Amino acid sequence: MLPQEIIKAKRDGKTLTREQIAFFVKGISNGNVTDGQVAAFAMSVYFNGMAMPERVALTEEMMNSGTVLNWDSFNLGGPIVDKHSTGGVSDSVSLMLGPMVAACGGYVPMIAGRGLGHTGGTLDKFESIPGYNIQPDLADFQRIVKDVGVAIIGQTADLAPADKRFYSIRDVTATVDSIPLITASILSKKLSAGLEALAMDVKTGNGAFMTSLEDSRALASSIVAVANGAGVRTSATITDMNEALGDTAGNATEMREAIEYLTGVRRNPRLHQVTMTLAIQMLLLSGIAASKEEAKAKLNDVLDSGRAAEIFGKMVHALGGPSDFLENWQGYLPKAPVVMPVYADSPGYIAEVSTRDLGLVVVSLGGGRTNPADNIDHAVGLSELAPIGTFVDNNRPIAMIHARDEVSAIAASVELKASIGLSETLPELDPVVYETLT
Ligand code: URA
Repeated sequence: MLPQEIIKAKRDGKTLTREQIAFFVKGISNGNVTDGQVAAFAMSVYFNGMAMPERVALTEEMMNSGTVLNWDSFNLGGPIVDKHSTGGVSDSVSLMLGPMVAACGGYVPMIAGRGLGHTGGTLDKFESIPGYNIQPDLADFQRIVKDVGVAIIGQTADLAPADKRFYSIRDVTATVDSIPLITASILSKKLSAGLEALAMDVKTGNGAFMTSLEDSRALASSIVAVANGAGVRTSATITDMNEALGDTAGNATEMREAIEYLTGVRRNPRLHQVTMTLAIQMLLLSGIAASKEEAKAKLNDVLDSGRAAEIFGKMVHALGGPSDFLENWQGYLPKAPVVMPVYADSPGYIAEVSTRDLGLVVVSLGGGRTNPADNIDHAVGLSELAPIGTFVDNNRPIAMIHARDEVSAIAASVELKASIGLSETLPELDPVVYETLT
């Protein structure tokens, strides 16, 4: 078999066999296929697509390019289940949902990512906790999942290494936005954690990877078909990203919001709706609950009893964070020296948000990256973000800016104001959750 013959077949619109896909993926991993050949392959898929069996084969072969976690010897006594989001602004759902599902009896080995571009990353949020180790070895990771029920860590070199090389070449050859390739890329990494069930959150809107509902549906149905085809019970819920999800954006700011959510101090209604919808999916898919009502009751119970918060605290400590983080988080999370309200130039209802630009405000404050190698400032960000439909004036700010210094706070306030559109009348609100595909 030759790589160029496989590229030619895909270029000419043929359906590849499992053997051809396995050969090509092996070549990506061991370097026998050149960067130029990987790029040509990606471009052929971009134009000609892939049938479902090809997508399943690509996903499984990329997953098997590295370690696939095996849980057989752990006698967990509960299902292994996870959630993944295609990425957004102010999306702190994983921080709460992992401990909530663990408190209901699930085991959640969550491999999370860093923020890139305008989107935030779960790992960066956890790195605002002193001592939290996002890169334990896999044996420790599995032990913590067994003991605590959940561990949230970063991608390791052993999980789906073929995707690492493939993605970096797609990134510079305009071939990221191909639904078969995105499907295989996301699922090869997720499924390498040895999952039985997966709830996907596919964002839609101006702050999402897929901006139109139509494209989001196509990605959601591809992911559902491929993951189920690979033997993992999966649903995909399409949720709104036409504005920030919660009250905060940034790293320590979102960590604070998550702790306040888990401890019942405050739950932003949009964030709560998405968190509960996805957690309910996880309980249904994994068989922990037989109906939505039962799932909801279990989740409310672990929130009200403090059990989910307690598991969050245990996970933080097991991964190297302070043992009293949950009680004394205010003393541990970094604080920005300047905290400043931003008021609209004239009063009005917030009618629209450029969510991408809002995410970029956090980046320009230093809380996100423009280059994967950048260091970030965990203290900076936004809080008290006014959702669409809020009347903002001299009393109600658009948000509070948390900045390293006054100069960057003032620059960010200009960008923040430019990211929202005001109207004189109350605007219609988009749904927060559109639909779930199973
Ligand atoms: N996220 C991934 O992990 N892979 C893609 O291809 C796109 C988004």
